[in-house]
Amino acid sequence: MKVTLVWAVVGLQQLVAALTIAEINGNKFLSPYSGETVTNVTGLLIAKGPSGAWIRSTTPDDDPATSEAIYVFGTVGASVGDIISLDGKVTEYRQQASYLYLTEITSPKNVKVISGTTVAPLIIGKDTLSPPTATFSGLDGGDVYNVPGGVTNISVSNPVLKPKEDGLDFWESLSGELVKIKRPTSIQRANQYGDTWVFGDWVVSGKNAHGGLTMSGKDSNPEAIIIGSPLDGTKNPSTSKMGDQFEDITGVVTCAFGFYRILPLTAIKTSSTANANAKPSTLKTSSDCRALTIGDYNVENLAPDSSHLPDIAAHIVNYLNSPDLIFIQEVQDGSGPADDGVVSANATLSALTASIESLSSISYAFASVDPISNQDGGQPGGNIRQAYLYRPEVVTLYKPNPGSGSDETQVQPGPKLSFNPGRIEPGNEAWSASRKPIAAAWVAKGAKKPFFTVNVHFSSKGGGTSLHGDARPPVNGAVGRREMQGNVTATFIREIMKEDPKAKVIAAGDFNEFSFVQPMKTFAAVSGMVDLDEATNVPVPERYTYVYDMNAQALDHMYVSPALAKSKHTKYEHLHLNTWAAFADMVSDHDPSVAQFDVCDC
Ligand SMILES: *[C@@H]1O[C@H](CO)[C@@H](O)[C@H](O)[C@H]1NC(C)=O
Ligand SMILES: *[C@@H]1O[C@H](CO)[C@@H](O)[C@H](O)[C@H]1NC(C)=O
Ligand SMILES: *[C@@H]1O[C@H](CO)[C@@H](O)[C@H](O)[C@H]1NC(C)=O
Ligand SMILES: *[C@@H]1O[C@H](CO)[C@@H](O)[C@H](O)[C@H]1NC(C)=O
Repeated sequence: MKVTLVWAVVGLQQLVAALTIAEINGNKFLSPYSGETVTNVTGLLIAKGPSGAWIRSTTPDDDPATSEAIYVFGTVGASVGDIISLDGKVTEYRQQASYLYLTEITSPKNVKVISGTTVAPLIIGKDTLSPPTATFSGLDGGDVYNVPGGVTNISVSNPVLKPKEDGLDFWESLSGELVKIKRPTSIQRANQYGDTWVFGDWVVSGKNAHGGLTMSGKDSNPEAIIIGSPLDGTKNPSTSKMGDQFEDITGVVTCAFGFYRILPLTAIKTSSTANANAKPSTLKTSSDCRALTIGDYNVENLAPDSSHLPDIAAHIVNYLNSPDLIFIQEVQDGSGPADDGVVSANATLSALTASIESLSSISYAFASVDPISNQDGGQPGGNIRQAYLYRPEVVTLYKPNPGSGSDETQVQPGPKLSFNPGRIEPGNEAWSASRKPIAAAWVAKGAKKPFFTVNVHFSSKGGGTSLHGDARPPVNGAVGRREMQGNVTATFIREIMKEDPKAKVIAAGDFNEFSFVQPMKTFAAVSGMVDLDEATNVPVPERYTYVYDMNAQALDHMYVSPALAKSKHTKYEHLHLNTWAAFADMVSDHDPSVAQFDVCDC
């Protein structure tokens, strides 16, 4: 039987008259009037954009949680400086389900110009509160990297805004406002649309020597804001980079494409350009076990014909001082991304070492383990893997016995490795569609005992949500994977330490995680290894090898066993060669690092 229901919806739509803009916004993320039609909303037209206008209340309240401005989406037949009244519908809008909503008035009608006055922006930190510098949302439990993420959504919890305490609440409390940023500094190269992350003349935390903001435990820099597309159709500079200074920026606060952002009235103007010249490492090898130098570099999908291959070689020679041993990640097979069954990286590593030799007369040898084709993730067909470059006159494999892609290397009494180099538990599900670590044992000139290395490239953060997203805490993509990977790698290292508590072990590479987040805490706890940044007291703001959104951050690390962590000969430097560079000057998306160790016998 077919039932037809006819709903007669008459008069259910409430008409809410003469609310102030603060009342429409309310003191939470979502408007209490969402979906309702409002009439006679009065405000000063403070800015116009291609698809609408922004108005500011003429009857403000004194609650810093309630924004006094709002976006009106649609045609508003009035000009900047007009005080107008209008009717419309209160709407919450977002482009994607993982984003925060923007409160706006849609379908404006009965727009009336009442009078006019001058328009002045609110200077951030002077006419407004200053942005909080550590936490993003009270729903994060004090740490955006708390596990698990996605426990709640802001759009579900809809908390009362605390603009003095939490960064997202601060920017939400200014939604729709015309603001001015004084003395803005760029903290990240502009993206393809010219969108540029900045901070202004307010108090910031984590400022690094180059002018960027580096994240640290429980502080991922909510005080930064991205400058989006100019309202007048001009284009922001595309070549700006970390540390560039801009003229004051005036624009409206909005929430779009997953971030709070300021749409400037006109394009950002650069007032001074940062010097991106980096200095070479101060670390020099002794060419024997006393001061062995070890580099680490994610070389970003390196194939034999990569245009950046000679530049990687030049970085190794001119900035890393040709370390005795180099951990590299993202070495593709000899046919690059062609999915043709080739898995050997001999051609790639031969091209890299030949390029280094042409610049320096230094002949590197290399060691790696070919993966099984298309089993380790990354660019399809590329078969990325980790590899070691080494200077055989200084350091050689200890009892070499290379494993295949399916061979599992094991720690044997000595300690020594059953396969050298060899992969750690390649059959463990922790590594499905990801790179298996490559362990190796080495002996340096002047030493009789080996030291051990583990070269890692853990699963990336793909699939996560942004720090400005709806999910709280944000979803840290593949964090569960990295937790397993950290544990498996650490368990292997612990076997070496069981054989010899004084063993010298170095685990390095692209862990795709920050040292203060759970997978790395697990890795350190299970392995007994020490973060080399901690062991050598690298200043916290200089601990970065990557930039993402507003944050300079460390995805790449070295961890060392206690014997090396305690040694006064241990040194460590991050070489910020790429994080600072303009897009066209980047050689890889990661910065390399160099360390120096005494690996003579204990
Ligand atoms: C609209 O609001 C203003 C105050 O903002 C008030 O003076 C005016 O009477 C209102 N007009 C109507 C038609 O309600
Ligand atoms: C949060 O929102 C996303 C996207 O709409 C949804 O998939 C998820 O289930 C929500 N989570 C909670 C805890 O409400
Ligand atoms: C590795 O590549 C080099 C340079 O192309 C070549 O001379 C050498 O024969 C190759 N070795 C193997 C084992 O294929
Ligand atoms: C690490 O893995 C082992 C073996 O699967 C497990 O027993 C242990 O609980 C794990 N440890 C952590 C901290 O996850």
